[in-house]
Amino acid sequence: MLRKWWHDKIAYQIYPKSFLDTNGDGIGDLPGIISKLDYLKALGVDIIWLSPIYQSPFVDQGYDIADYYAIAEEFGTMEDFDALLAETKKRDMAVIMDLVINHCSDKHIWFQKALADPEGEYADYFYIRDGKDGCPPSNLRSYFGGSCWEPIPGTGKYYFHMFAKEQPDLNWENPAVRHELYAMINWWLEKGLAGFRIDAIINIKKDLDFPSFAPDGPDGLAACWKMVDSVNGVGDLLEDLKNHTFRHYNAFTVGEVFNMKEAELPAFIGEDGHFSTIFDFSAHCLSNGEHGWYDAPPISFENWRRAIFESQLKVQKVGFEANIIENHDEPRGVSRFLPAWAQNDAGAKMLGTVSLLLRGIPFIYQGQELGMTNNNWHSIDEFEDINTLDQYRTALEAGLSEEEALAVCARCSRDNARTPIPWTDGPCAGFTTGTPWLPLNENASALNAASQENDPASTLSYYRRLTALRKSQEWREVFTYGRFEPAYEDEPAIMAYCRVMDGTRVLVAANFGRDTVTLRPDYTIKRVLLSNRPTEPENTLTLKSCDVIVAECCLS
Ligand code: NOJ
Repeated sequence: MLRKWWHDKIAYQIYPKSFLDTNGDGIGDLPGIISKLDYLKALGVDIIWLSPIYQSPFVDQGYDIADYYAIAEEFGTMEDFDALLAETKKRDMAVIMDLVINHCSDKHIWFQKALADPEGEYADYFYIRDGKDGCPPSNLRSYFGGSCWEPIPGTGKYYFHMFAKEQPDLNWENPAVRHELYAMINWWLEKGLAGFRIDAIINIKKDLDFPSFAPDGPDGLAACWKMVDSVNGVGDLLEDLKNHTFRHYNAFTVGEVFNMKEAELPAFIGEDGHFSTIFDFSAHCLSNGEHGWYDAPPISFENWRRAIFESQLKVQKVGFEANIIENHDEPRGVSRFLPAWAQNDAGAKMLGTVSLLLRGIPFIYQGQELGMTNNNWHSIDEFEDINTLDQYRTALEAGLSEEEALAVCARCSRDNARTPIPWTDGPCAGFTTGTPWLPLNENASALNAASQENDPASTLSYYRRLTALRKSQEWREVFTYGRFEPAYEDEPAIMAYCRVMDGTRVLVAANFGRDTVTLRPDYTIKRVLLSNRPTEPENTLTLKSCDVIVAECCLS
């Protein structure tokens, strides 16, 4: 396998709005990020992914871009951004930005021009179609609820949007659109950006007939991903994108890809794939409800472990995936993937260990290194996320009570991951001197960075040891390129695997159960490299509840 500069890196996602506010407006900003670069360096971070910081009306928190060349004033200025690039470079860190090019904002000048003249040049930057007998052109339902088609007043025409109506989809079949987007991407790469996280990219290929599908809900609509599933040819567009941009800069690209056809994995992340890597969402998809969050199935330990193992075994034949516990679209992993008895410091360390030592590129989401949990939510009015508000309505329409619908949102909402980072136990957890744009977690006075900073037993200190181990001279190679081998699959509460390379074998074993387990002596431990056990690690395969060990070993 050809070695790439990003293979052995650790990435960290920043959701700028919630990271650190330095001007008291209640919204995180670029100077806040710059002030924490040493914190990130100490955490072992090499690559920082910034969720969108472009100019935006923030209908979908910045995933609706009004100007691809401008920094949102909420976050700072282009000078701040340049300073961030310079400061990261000094620390030998790289920055990637979110690239949101399936759609833009309805406030983008292209869309404004399209609306002003729905027959003109800019109309062809979007998908604008005539209605059918006074109805939308097809029955697709957007990801955020309601029809994918929004009427253009006074015209009998509609425009297409797979997300909110304020996020019109860009017409990728139009070479002028592609040309504009490629020029913009190259402009950022010329500035010194190391690459991009690429948003919702599988959706760029449309079926230009925009057919209707069998309704799958009481609204008579059908989920728009069904069109994505049914259409071929996204690969041609993605190759075109890569060849006009990323390829020339040796950029690191990580695709947000759902609904990929399995046989296409090599085309996506193989040696010369469309992207460097894509996120592994296999465990997260286990809780996809058929109709929404309200019928989301619970995730059993067994299914979670199987999903990860299957994915690791499949992907290692082809390339690298990016491993996450959580991101800005998911609830906190500690609250989601750990059983009730493990939702504590030891559990957070255990979950972090088994995730970060998988084969692939680990992405830590801000606050994960502190063991942040979901928040307690008391009213639907506390949420800001457009998707959460839609899911609340959907749950009510399906017959749930207000209390039940709130409980669904409290469990599944993306806002769980978007609450501000608690830096201290002071006012507003040191996040802002103003009013935070989203409530702080109720546990912020106990769970915050300052209280963990100098405590060797804290989750933060443990994460530092974990990343240091992964990147150490001695073990970097096996954790980067070592084969993934499942272990103890017959043990119902144990998540265990080996990373194996040449003569080296490292066992990672964690006890997600309530009871102590003594593992079969399949392996002989030579040396324990890391463990979350409070006392000095012993060379033993007896794991108490929430214990995790990482050990150099050999087959017995
Ligand atoms: C995926 C992003 O991660 C999410 O936050 C956003 O709402 C949609 N794409 C639309 O851009």
